[in-house]
Amino acid sequence: MKKTIALLATAFALMLALVSCNTATTQVGIVLPTKDEERWIQDQTRFADALKTAGISAEVMFSEKDSAKEKANVETLITKGIKVLVLCPVDSASAAAAADAARAKGIKVVAYDRLITNTDAVDFYVTFDSFNVGAAWGDYLVSQATGKNQNLYLYAGAASDNNAFIFFEGAWSKLQPKIADGTFVVVNSTEAVALKDKAQLTRDEEAAIIGQVTTNWNPADAKSKAEAHLTASKPAQKGDVFILGPNDQTARAIADTFAADKDVKSYKITGQDADKASIQYIIDGKQSMTVLKDTRTLVADAIKAAITFSKGETPAQTKTYNNGKIDVPAAPSDVVSVTKDNVKAAIVDSGYYPATDFTGL
Ligand code: BGC
Repeated sequence: MKKTIALLATAFALMLALVSCNTATTQVGIVLPTKDEERWIQDQTRFADALKTAGISAEVMFSEKDSAKEKANVETLITKGIKVLVLCPVDSASAAAAADAARAKGIKVVAYDRLITNTDAVDFYVTFDSFNVGAAWGDYLVSQATGKNQNLYLYAGAASDNNAFIFFEGAWSKLQPKIADGTFVVVNSTEAVALKDKAQLTRDEEAAIIGQVTTNWNPADAKSKAEAHLTASKPAQKGDVFILGPNDQTARAIADTFAADKDVKSYKITGQDADKASIQYIIDGKQSMTVLKDTRTLVADAIKAAITFSKGETPAQTKTYNNGKIDVPAAPSDVVSVTKDNVKAAIVDSGYYPATDFTGL
């Protein structure tokens, strides 16, 4: 018995030594934008699970939606001797300074989910196919609209996030033909109305629309913007409405605001992230769809890229994203549209969340 315990103890010590050996060779620093949004807690949780399985030492830090805090986080990680930085920027352009500082120390820089712009110090971009996120919203809203002159309200993400542009571009690719042919009438953006016959928008044109309808990725901003739009709208601009909701957290705020307006008879609203709260909203018929961006995949892609770089190799790419300075290599992963019809299959049967997290499934 004693012998077995001693043997087991030796085996355990050996295992620990092996793990820490692996640890020493793959030092990864991960910086996420905020703990205030369910989306990034999902990533944190999935990172914790995956890193444990891979036996990799990595530190995850949060930037509290503050670029200065983000820069300080990166500097701390540089001091700790990381070899690979996985950075999801608070602000795509401001993060360039942090990326430059890491590059100056020979650290590989992986942009995570959001592109880091205006620097050549980005080695790889781990991302979902964000154009397809927007395209999925557009497809959904178009599939729900019949007849002409349907009221469409547009909302967008934060202009400081490069993704907000890509999502909008994807949505516009599907919505614009249906705005041009009179199926939809955009209620809350004069800029979008003025550009309704233009299939491909320039970045400045997108910025003009986003400037009018941004939520800043903030539910309080989303709510006050939706309230202002509804106050400005006539009853005829309400009734049955279609809403481009840019992510789950803001979509819930917008949906609640529209639901409370007595002149709104029904609404269809999009989202993304598969927040648990939004999955419940979908089950309850309070949000129409979300886009599942399986964070397990993104986390696995980030870890794979970090390991590849640690071996002195380069991760495989399938496309590039221009960041204003260079074409950043990437291999975007697929996204899944989720409505009431497939919510059980896509979210529960896929093992993403347990059924016990929801009621009325
Ligand atoms: C992410 C979304 C997220 C949003 C707000 C975007 O860059 O891709 O998943 O909802 O930021 O945090």
